[in-house]
Amino acid sequence: MLIRIIYVSTAVGPQTTTMTNSILKTAQAWNSANDITGVLCQGQGVFLQALEGERSVVTKLYSRIYADQRHTNVEMIHCESIQQRRYGKWSMAHVSLSDLDPTTRIDWPEFDPYSITGLLVMACIDDLLAAGTVIEGLDS
Ligand SMILES: Cc1cc2nc3c(=O)[nH]c(=O)nc-3n(C[C@H](O)[C@H](O)[C@H](O)COP(=O)(O)O)c2cc1C
Repeated sequence: MLIRIIYVSTAVGPQTTTMTNSILKTAQAWNSANDITGVLCQGQGVFLQALEGERSVVTKLYSRIYADQRHTNVEMIHCESIQQRRYGKWSMAHVSLSDLDPTTRIDWPEFDPYSITGLLVMACIDDLLAAGTVIEGLDS
C-alpha cells in the first residue's frame, strides 16, 4: 500500500549549502534504491518534506528522519493512502524557499507550515515546485 506523508521541522543551526547537499545526497541515493519519491522544501529556518512510497518503508524512513539531530520540532502534518504518486518524477526534489520568485511570496504571504492544514500545504508545495528552483541532482 502506497502512502504520502508531509511533515514540517525546524533546522538546528543555519541551513548551509553543505548541510542541504549532504541531506540531498543521502536522500537521493537511499530513496532511489527504496522506491521513495518526494520533495524537500527548505529555507527560512524550516524544512517541509513530502515522502511517498510503500507504507512500511515510509514509516521506517520517517522515524530515522525524525531522530536526525539536524532538525527539531518535527510535526507530521499530513498522511494519506494514495493510488498515485504526486512527486513520482523525483527521488527527492529540492525547492529552496529563499530562491522563490517574489510573486510566489506574494501568493503565500504568511507561509507558516506549522499552522496550515496538510491539504493547503500540498497546494503550496505544488506552487513552490512550479515557481521555485527545483534541483533534482546535486550538479544540476
Ligand atoms: C530534513 C531532512 C530530510 C531528510 N530526508 C531524507 C530522505 O528523504 N531519505 C533519506 O534516506 N534520508 C533523509 N534524511 C537523512 C536521515 O535523517 C538520516 O540521516 C539518513 O537516513 C541516515 O540514517 P542513519 O544515520 O540512521 O543511517 C533527511 C534528513 C533531514 C534532516
